[in-house]
Amino acid sequence: MAPMAMGGNLPYRRLCREFGAVRTCSEMVLADKLVKGGDRPLIRHHDSETDFGVQLAGKKPGVMAEAALIAAVAGAKFIDLNFGCPIDLVVKRGAGAALMKRPSLLGEVIAAVRRTVDLPLSAKLRLGYSESKMNVVDLARRAQDAGADAVAVHGRTRNQRYRLNARWDLIDEVAKAVDIPVLGNGDLLTPWDLEHRRKETSIRSFLVARGALVKPWIFRELAEGRPLNPTISERWAVLHRYSELALEHFGDDEKGTGRAKRFFLWHWKFWHRFRPWTEEDFREHWPDSLIQVRNPRVSGDPDLVLLASDDEADHELIWQRVLDRDFPTV
Ligand SMILES: Cc1cc2nc3c(=O)[nH]c(=O)nc-3n(C[C@H](O)[C@H](O)[C@H](O)COP(=O)(O)O)c2cc1C
Repeated sequence: MAPMAMGGNLPYRRLCREFGAVRTCSEMVLADKLVKGGDRPLIRHHDSETDFGVQLAGKKPGVMAEAALIAAVAGAKFIDLNFGCPIDLVVKRGAGAALMKRPSLLGEVIAAVRRTVDLPLSAKLRLGYSESKMNVVDLARRAQDAGADAVAVHGRTRNQRYRLNARWDLIDEVAKAVDIPVLGNGDLLTPWDLEHRRKETSIRSFLVARGALVKPWIFRELAEGRPLNPTISERWAVLHRYSELALEHFGDDEKGTGRAKRFFLWHWKFWHRFRPWTEEDFREHWPDSLIQVRNPRVSGDPDLVLLASDDEADHELIWQRVLDRDFPTV
């Protein structure tokens, strides 16, 4: 499961773990903040997350190393360094994707963390900062030379954001250029996406982000190589399970319930996009992944329509129904 701000909240990671996510990762943590004592909740994990890592962003080698040590003491099993975050606020500070424009500093950051902690260390990259600066092969080599144990590559540039399909041919080039494992990332939504990527590239490790936000059961689908197509009552049960995990984490008092609700509502940005995609849908759109394709409207069963709604009032209603257990059960 890829690192995701907001989306990678602890209860959601637990849910994904229950559906078979192998490795989980914290949301991006700013090293500057962590060393000043902030953001501690972000580096917490649940016992069920047996291979949990902390992702750090920052540009100062010493601070990044200190932050990695804090994460290690808190129980992280690996450290991931963020060199791909496209957000202006982060890039303007010289962190995230900005480091792709400063390859030697990127190497220094990795080397400093390598010297300080003894945990597996990965670097998460994009193809480059922009189309005219696709330097990921050089960056991956530097990461390897600086002591990284793996690199993850999201197959787009910083400036592309989510426009265009992820370039798996270029991710594969990286895999051929380095000796350490390369984790491929971009547009995995169905078992057929994974099958194609396995066939067409030498990549054997994968990161899933938006696909996990749309359907947390994606991990089981990818492991089993077939779609799960949950029934409506099974989908309600998943929502209910998330509410349980969120209330357990945030607390079921007024404050905790408010926080759980905030996350629950946030997740609808992605949950409402679920459709029971078929292999035919996949073939019709390939090489566009269905995650890049606009979803057809849903009609029929009122609950099915409700769960596909992008209307905030409907999401509030769903939250209330989940709390009241007012939904069909199998
Ligand atoms: C809501 C959201 C938050 C994200 N936050 C982070 C983050 O904190 N750190 C990071 O490296 N990438 C972050 N990403 C990028 C994903 O890890 C991933 O690289 C990207 O979404 C491409 O994978 P996908 O096509 O499977 O979504 C985020 C993506 C989303 C959708």
